[in-house]
Amino acid sequence: MRYSVLGGGKRVRPLLVYASGELTGVAEETLDPVAAAVELIHAYSLVHDDLPAMDDDDLRRGRPTTHRQFDEATAILAGDALQALAFEVLAADPKLAARPQAQVRMLAWLARAAGPAGMVGGQALDMAAEGRQIDERGLERIHRGKTGALIRASIMMPSELGLLSGDERANLDVFARDIGLVFQIRDDLLAVDQDTATLGKNAGSDSGNEKSTYPSTLGVEGARRRAAETQRHAVDALRTFGGRSDALLWLSEFILNRSS
Ligand code: IPE
Ligand code: IPE
Ligand code: MG
Ligand code: MG
Repeated sequence: MRYSVLGGGKRVRPLLVYASGELTGVAEETLDPVAAAVELIHAYSLVHDDLPAMDDDDLRRGRPTTHRQFDEATAILAGDALQALAFEVLAADPKLAARPQAQVRMLAWLARAAGPAGMVGGQALDMAAEGRQIDERGLERIHRGKTGALIRASIMMPSELGLLSGDERANLDVFARDIGLVFQIRDDLLAVDQDTATLGKNAGSDSGNEKSTYPSTLGVEGARRRAAETQRHAVDALRTFGGRSDALLWLSEFILNRSS
C-alpha cells in the first residue's frame, strides 16, 4: 500500500480538493482527509488498472507496477485495502465528525464516484470496448466514468463544507464534470505524443490493448480541439466566481496542457 501511494504521482485530485476549498471558503486543514481519500481511491484504481487481467502494464509512476514489484495477490489486496482506507479516513476524521451531514454527503460523493455509476462502471465499459471501434458518445461515457467521476467528486466534495448558493454549486459542477473529461482526453493524447520515460508508464499501452481513445476516434487534431473546447466550456462556468476561482483556473490549464 505504501509503495503504491507514496511512490510519486502528480496529486492532481488532492490539488483540486484544495483549489475547490479556496473557491468555497473552506479551511485547508479541514480538507486534508478529503484530499487523502480521493488520492487513496485513485492509487487503488491504478494498482488494479495495471493488473494482468486489465491493462497488463509493467510500469507506473516510473517504477515497476505493484504486481510486478510484489505479486498479483498482493496488488489485488493492496488495492482493496486502499479503497477501504479511503472511506475510513473520511468517516473517522474528528474534525469532519463535527459536521455530520456534510460528512455523510461527502462519503456519498466518493462512493458514487468510485462505484458502478462512476469509476468501476467506466472501467468495465473500457474493458468491454477493447478491440472494438466505439463512437464518440460511447467513448465520452467511458471517459466520464473511469476518470471523470472521481475528478468531479474531488471538486464537489469541498462544496459540501462551504457556503454556495444552488446556482453557484450548479456552475461548479459544470466545471467539475468537464474538466474530468479533459483530463482523460489529454491522457489519451499523451499516450500518442509522449515517450515512456517522460510518462513514467508505457506509452504503447492503449494501442497494444486496442483501446478506443479520442485520438483513435477523432484523430490527434480532433482530440486536441475537443479537449480545448471542453476546457473552455468548463472555465466559462467559473466566470461568476471572480478571483476565488484562480487556483481552479490554473489547474484547468495544467490539465489541458500537462506533459505527463
Ligand atoms: C492516470 O492519472 C490515470 C487516469 C485516471 C487518467 P494521473 O495522470 O493523475 O496519474 P498520477 O497520479 O499522476 O500517477
Ligand atoms: C485509467 O485509465 C483509469 C483508472 C485507473 C480508473 P487508463 O488505463 O487509460 O490510464 P493509464 O494510461 O493506465 O494511466
Ligand atoms: Mg485502463
Ligand atoms: Mg491503464
